[in-house]
Amino acid sequence: MGLLFQTPRARVQRVVRRLRGGPSPLAGRTVMITGASSGIGEATAHAVARVGGHVLLVARRADELARVRDAIEADGGRASAYTCDLTDLEAVDALVERVLAEHGAVDHLVNNAGRSIRRSLHLSHDRFHDFERSMAINYFAPVRLTMGLLPAMRAQRFGHVVNIVTWGVQIKAPKFAAYIASKTALDSWSRVASREAYGDNVTFTNMRFALVRTPMVAPTEAYARMPAATPEQAGARVLRALEDRPVTVNGWPGRIGEWANLLAPRLSDALFWRSDRAFPDSAAARGDRPT
Ligand SMILES: NC(=O)c1ccc[n+]([C@@H]2O[C@H](COP(=O)([O-])OP(=O)(O)OC[C@H]3O[C@@H](n4cnc5c(N)ncnc54)[C@H](OP(=O)(O)O)[C@@H]3O)[C@@H](O)[C@H]2O)c1
Repeated sequence: MGLLFQTPRARVQRVVRRLRGGPSPLAGRTVMITGASSGIGEATAHAVARVGGHVLLVARRADELARVRDAIEADGGRASAYTCDLTDLEAVDALVERVLAEHGAVDHLVNNAGRSIRRSLHLSHDRFHDFERSMAINYFAPVRLTMGLLPAMRAQRFGHVVNIVTWGVQIKAPKFAAYIASKTALDSWSRVASREAYGDNVTFTNMRFALVRTPMVAPTEAYARMPAATPEQAGARVLRALEDRPVTVNGWPGRIGEWANLLAPRLSDALFWRSDRAFPDSAAARGDRPT
């Protein structure tokens, strides 16, 4: 019964903790964050370390990971860096083996590493690899990693997985077929996993972020004029989700898009088709610049 009300209870505990100035539930916990060398992952790593979590940083660029680890340690936090190309599934298995041997069970996992592709379908007919590489990093990599870490979470009867997905799973924006489909796969996978792991007190959160000003969105000229959160604001939201363990984190624009798709799908198609013409493919997507 306690688990049934876990999320509201966690929220009440957070308010009480804030009022009393008590420690974060992440203090002393092991928190693995993928894509921690940049953007949202880097900001999340700092936020988690500041409340006493031991962060395990994962990404490909060893120099950037070392920079983040050193900055966290200089700030008085605990961090360990692991270089891994998450699209190499054997490397993911080796990472799991090493981390479990060094730290025992990982308490929280943030599946944040990812890549976005914004390209119209009419520019994608000879680019099937766009669909394959989106699935490789946004779906197969986090599923392989989560599957590797899940047995130890279930055995210790505690675990929490946060997936950084996108509001695109709700609004289904044009030009993002490869990206949104791969994130939707992860979003759905986790909802099913939630139901299987529930009895072992292992929970999943899907965070459907809107625009965040990070290196990932830099190539898209259309975003330059749009409102966006900072990586630090996004990292603070991930921290809150790690502490509260909600099922999903949505914003209002995403919710409205989801309802529009449910209630008036063909009208949504027409409105998106019309408004999308104001936002052409970027130079990179057209092939004028390398991607
Ligand atoms: N920015 C937004 O507007 C936005 C909105 C919604 C959702 N998101 C999601 O937020 C997540 C973080 O993105 P971001 O905006 O913070 O972008 P970012 O600054 O470009 O960070 C992407 C991170 O993923 C890592 N990564 C990429 N491929 C990898 C691989 N094969 N193996 C291991 N690590 C890999 C990168 O590290 P290395 O290059 O060092 O490997 C980097 O740390 C992504 O999943 C993205 O889809 C972003």
